[in-house]
Amino acid sequence: MESPNPRLVLLTSLFLLLLLLAAPGPNSTQAQQLLPIVKTNSTQIFIVHVQCPRGSPGLLNSEELNEWYFSYLPNITLDSGEPRMIHTYDYVITGFAARLTADEAALLESMDGFVFAYPEKIQPLHTTYTPELLGLDQLNGLWEHSSKGEGVIVAVLDTGILPNHPSFADTLKLPPPPLKWRGRCDLPAGSGSCNNKLVGAQHFIVPAGPSNTPIDDAGHGTHVAGIAVGSPVYNVDVSGLARGTASGMAPSAHLAVYKVCLKRGCPDSFSLKGIEKAIQDGVDIIQISNGAPDEFHLSGNIKGSFRALHKGILTICSAQNQGPIPSLISNDAPWILTVGAASTGRRNTVVLKLGNGMVFNGESSNQPDPSGNIVDLPLVNPIGVNRTHEKMFCLNGSMTDLNVTGKIVICRKEFTEPHEKSKVVKEAGGAGIIIVNQKWSGDTLSSYSFAIPGIHVTYKDMRKILDYSITETNPTASITFKGTEFGVRPSPSIAAFSSRGPSSINGGILKPDVIAPGVNILSAWPFDAGDGSAKSDDAFHFESGTSMAAPHVSGIAALLKKVHPDWTPAMIKSALMTTAYTEDRDKNRITDDASNSRAPANAFAIGAGHVNPSAAEDPGLVYDTSIEDYMSYLCGLNGMSPRKFIMITSDPSACSNKKKMAAEELNYPSIQVSMGWGGKNKTVPRTVTNVGKANSIYMVTVVEPNGVKVDVNPKTLEFDSIGEEKKFTVEISLTGSPPAGQREAWEGRLVWVSGKYQVASPIVVVE
Ligand SMILES: *[C@@H]1O[C@H](CO)[C@@H](O)[C@H](O)[C@H]1NC(C)=O
Ligand SMILES: *[C@@H]1O[C@H](CO)[C@@H](O)[C@H](O)[C@H]1NC(C)=O
Ligand SMILES: *[C@@H]1O[C@H](CO)[C@@H](O)[C@H](O)[C@H]1NC(C)=O
Ligand SMILES: *[C@@H]1O[C@H](CO)[C@@H](O)[C@H](O)[C@H]1NC(C)=O
Ligand SMILES: *[C@@H]1O[C@H](CO)[C@@H](O)[C@H](O)[C@H]1NC(C)=O
Ligand SMILES: *[C@@H]1O[C@H](CO)[C@@H](O)[C@H](O)[C@H]1NC(C)=O
Repeated sequence: MESPNPRLVLLTSLFLLLLLLAAPGPNSTQAQQLLPIVKTNSTQIFIVHVQCPRGSPGLLNSEELNEWYFSYLPNITLDSGEPRMIHTYDYVITGFAARLTADEAALLESMDGFVFAYPEKIQPLHTTYTPELLGLDQLNGLWEHSSKGEGVIVAVLDTGILPNHPSFADTLKLPPPPLKWRGRCDLPAGSGSCNNKLVGAQHFIVPAGPSNTPIDDAGHGTHVAGIAVGSPVYNVDVSGLARGTASGMAPSAHLAVYKVCLKRGCPDSFSLKGIEKAIQDGVDIIQISNGAPDEFHLSGNIKGSFRALHKGILTICSAQNQGPIPSLISNDAPWILTVGAASTGRRNTVVLKLGNGMVFNGESSNQPDPSGNIVDLPLVNPIGVNRTHEKMFCLNGSMTDLNVTGKIVICRKEFTEPHEKSKVVKEAGGAGIIIVNQKWSGDTLSSYSFAIPGIHVTYKDMRKILDYSITETNPTASITFKGTEFGVRPSPSIAAFSSRGPSSINGGILKPDVIAPGVNILSAWPFDAGDGSAKSDDAFHFESGTSMAAPHVSGIAALLKKVHPDWTPAMIKSALMTTAYTEDRDKNRITDDASNSRAPANAFAIGAGHVNPSAAEDPGLVYDTSIEDYMSYLCGLNGMSPRKFIMITSDPSACSNKKKMAAEELNYPSIQVSMGWGGKNKTVPRTVTNVGKANSIYMVTVVEPNGVKVDVNPKTLEFDSIGEEKKFTVEISLTGSPPAGQREAWEGRLVWVSGKYQVASPIVVVE
């Protein structure tokens, strides 16, 4: 007997089901008509959201779902023989990713159950061209209480992993992963194997190719994984610098690697599949360092992380490196913990001395021993000779009409990697390189590795160096290496590149949520980094970016998850936000590297402030937020349509039967209020849950923003038990004229104080 055609079986069973339910909706009693094949050859990957035939959710198994998805494709393969289907999803969204021409995609619209299709985007990775250990001593108490994260599984969705690296060896003799773990280890033969540290390694790259393994061919994934959960590696250094023990934030947590990114970025179709698999595998924390600003319904990270909430998984994402331009911030949904990048007090110092005696401190990770210092060499400013874009940025080929032999060359940052610029100068005969910041890079310095003696200096210093090189007929300079210094001031400061709010998409939730170390972070690297830092399988490398900041917080979140297994994702997030600090080591407000004048950083740069792991362990009170709350928030967002709502939530019930909530009403640990045109006052509700001492009394302290009166009601909260909730309202009234424009903000602070507990929320008032 012939086996029945599965598609017919599926459609027949749906037909019966529909007869039984007699439900209206997509008319699934008709077989999907086959699409005409459109004769164009340029296909792209579309993400296609569909609905299951009405009445079927929960009844279709994943095989049946796949058949339903395939029924939308004109055929299975393209001319080239490539399969059309890239990935099918059965949890993060109802839909699939497939190669289609624009015309074919347009034709989908007429098909039953179709919701929306859009060409996928490639999300950029969040490293700048370019490390530190977040005051590990700060972690000591938390490390002890959390057994360094033992038993917690952290999923890193990134460019893969170098499994043989000592950062992923089972140095701490970990127990096997918990029984709920269902992931796989797909490492190719000969590339190393999984162990109780690295418990899973899978990839979601399509089509098959040489890069089609979980092995990291870009470096980013290995570096990020090392920061979050790397095992301790003793006596690490980068060509003699920053010597010490390298360790991830949660060195005993299990690592599950999901390769969804290529060097050029992370296609949404891969990310969605990776997040889906991580959720199904039973991970506890999801770490993502890629993304671009996008509407929620078009972002794989945002949709995926919403589904992760349903399994109690917190997703931590980097904010992106588009700073200091306002409002270019990614991963800005309220259920994500969005992380910006801060500098640390560790610098790999190089000193530049000009012929006129002026001295500047800068950085490089490639510091030859003192014999590598260069003294009183001629200084060349290629821009002064013949101003071209190529010369300003020391691009390859631009040195031909210059004589740079034996000289130190000034090159501007951007366009190409500093290491490459140093090679260009070296190939032209140059003896040294000075990388100068552009105005927007301000005071943020990275320890670049250079092929010749070199230094990276700030924008302010660049002005003086250029002035000297232009006014002096025979300008000269010397470069001296000073090695690693600690406690450099000011620190922390906000990196110029760290993406800034306000979000133009999330309706007025303050983003980023927190900042964490993201400048010159030392972590595992899968290649010989070209800076003399040894062979690839024990190499470490400095990198900067919000990409490096997020995994610090992911590791700390893993520690908190271990200490408080019953906390929701929103509670973990709240603990990290309300205990964050806003002052640097000299007790000044954290400053903004992009200001070029050490101006205080605003809340759109630092959110609630810099993470403080040990305080986050015991926050006293938390702001919890339920999935229902997030849904009400979504329903209250401007422009939310039933179609967008289902794409984000996979919940077919529309907003009509849900409470609508303004963004400021969401029970969020920070308060951002928009006064609206002509508005004078607004009252926002909040609810806190006691996770500190059973019997405790909290009193409110408010720092009012200029021109704003803040009235909190009640002013005292009295708790009798753990888990008890108390509500309060915050009435915000303008006493003067409102801030001008969305980007100008008035900032204050609300703090609930009880003994050692200080539960702080920034208050931000915008127009
Ligand atoms: C599409 O096909 C045409 C004609 O066969 C060819 O000239 C063109 O280069 C192809 N385009 C792509 C993107 O493959
Ligand atoms: C599927 O459709 C494409 C686009 O027209 C065509 O080039 C290809 O040959 C078809 N494949 C099969 C197996 O029919
Ligand atoms: C400036 O550079 C351009 C392009 O490299 C070259 O053609 C031109 O001769 C240069 N001018 C001078 C004055 O060196
Ligand atoms: C380049 O400059 C160096 C030092 O000023 C000089 O010795 C050399 O002759 C110059 N080379 C050319 C080709 O002009
Ligand atoms: C510059 O270009 C030349 C010629 O194409 C090439 O040989 C050299 O490797 C390039 N240098 C760098 C640093 O890319
Ligand atoms: C708040 O504004 C409303 C009208 O917008 C006004 O009726 C009310 O008196 C104001 N409350 C305070 C405390 O200013």
